[in-house]
Amino acid sequence: MKPTETPKTYRVKSFGCQMNVYDGERMAEMLAEKGIAPAPEGEDADLVVLNTCHIRERAAEKIYSDIGRLTKGKTQTKPPMIAVAGCVAQAEGEEIMKRAPAVSMVVGPQAYHRLPEMLDRAVQGERATDTDMPPIAKFDALPRRRKSAPTAFLTVQEGCDKFCTYCVVPYTRGAEISRPFVDLIAEAQSLVEAGAREITLLGQNVNAWSGEDDKGRAIGLAGLIRALAPIDGLERLRYTTSHPADMDDALIAAHGEIEILMPYLHLPVQSGNDRVLRAMNRSHTAESYLKLLERFRAARPDIALSGDFIVGFPGETEAEFKDTLSIVDEVRYAQAYSFKYSPRPGTPAATMEGQIAMEVMDERLQRLQARLNRDQHAFNAATEGKTCTVLVERKGKHPGQWLGKSPWLQSVWFEGEAAIGDLVEVEVVEGGPNSLAGRLLVAAPA
Ligand code: SAH
Ligand code: SF4
Ligand code: F3S
Repeated sequence: MKPTETPKTYRVKSFGCQMNVYDGERMAEMLAEKGIAPAPEGEDADLVVLNTCHIRERAAEKIYSDIGRLTKGKTQTKPPMIAVAGCVAQAEGEEIMKRAPAVSMVVGPQAYHRLPEMLDRAVQGERATDTDMPPIAKFDALPRRRKSAPTAFLTVQEGCDKFCTYCVVPYTRGAEISRPFVDLIAEAQSLVEAGAREITLLGQNVNAWSGEDDKGRAIGLAGLIRALAPIDGLERLRYTTSHPADMDDALIAAHGEIEILMPYLHLPVQSGNDRVLRAMNRSHTAESYLKLLERFRAARPDIALSGDFIVGFPGETEAEFKDTLSIVDEVRYAQAYSFKYSPRPGTPAATMEGQIAMEVMDERLQRLQARLNRDQHAFNAATEGKTCTVLVERKGKHPGQWLGKSPWLQSVWFEGEAAIGDLVEVEVVEGGPNSLAGRLLVAAPA
């Protein structure tokens, strides 16, 4: 590659999960430290970071088409310098370098703290790949947080040792690690100082977080939540995503005791059939999962439940799929994500016998989603006439309209006197399929 000028503007495009959103923000902060500014909406960026996801379908193919559009002037008038980050970078870094000469940098999810240095080399005309996996080193090398939105993500745990047979995450994100307690308290404090009122603790297996508090006591996620809760100015805490195998009594109890821990639990089950769950290498059964949910409901009766589902796992019969429908009927999720099984290269399930035809998966997904939508709508409708506290996140389309979140993570629209970051009381007028319409009652004192 030819040497070029140092980019003046950047754009980070993040795909996939919230960890990628967090990583994207951290990369943006590093670029800002280097004096590179975010490209204004609709304008060309000198540097584009594609922060990719590898979880399903032709995610990698999408990256090549994005790169093609950038270099051919379809996305912006002038082709930018391109960096590929995220889980596709980790899984297929060398392949990307070979196939896409327009890419200057390939950087994995555990190595992006080296992005500024790679950028210096790219400016000299060198192409660089870094897919090392020293996760804690990354966090230590990142600049201080200065994000100023009312809601913020905070990665507390990364990686996965569960090896569900369909999943790429253990390969792209590496082994489970927990960030140190003191670092997390410090990062949460700087997020709140910068304006965050809600923090969502993130991890591929966030409830596997473990560490030692400032007095040297061994604690789990519940202990971390208890230590974060008193931070002055922090109004809401959430965490995602949990694995049933790592759930402990302390976390369940925390839902009944810590006021700012929101009544919401995302706990993927994937399937309602025990044979399929075993083949997936999930360590729970349908029954053990349901028992766990019962305990959460006992601790926090109004808790909103959310989950992930995969239909068409290799060998899944119609009867086995119906067990998934049954568990949905039993749980009545407030919200959920459902996917068609996608064979991921290098995972055990990709070469299992009994791969399911696409038409069958399409049809099963439709049936499943019909029930999940029914339950989500019912959950929303059940809040009609009730009052809830809404954290205002942004302006709506119409003048005077605002969008915020309820404690149960529902989107709430309302009109009136408010500002981003306010916690306001809203009466729910209508509970629709995807959001709530509300009437502003009184603005809480700031
Ligand atoms: N660590 C989290 C998130 C994993 S990825 C967890 O265990 O819940 C998010 C979701 O993507 C998973 O819960 C699963 O439902 C889905 N998923 C993962 N791999 C998949 C695959 N190969 N095909 C279809 N869906 C998949
Ligand atoms: Fe993937 Fe399973 Fe780990 Fe979740 S627990 S990240 S689905 S391997
Ligand atoms: Fe995707 Fe990687 Fe997250 S594969 S879902 S971006 S951990």
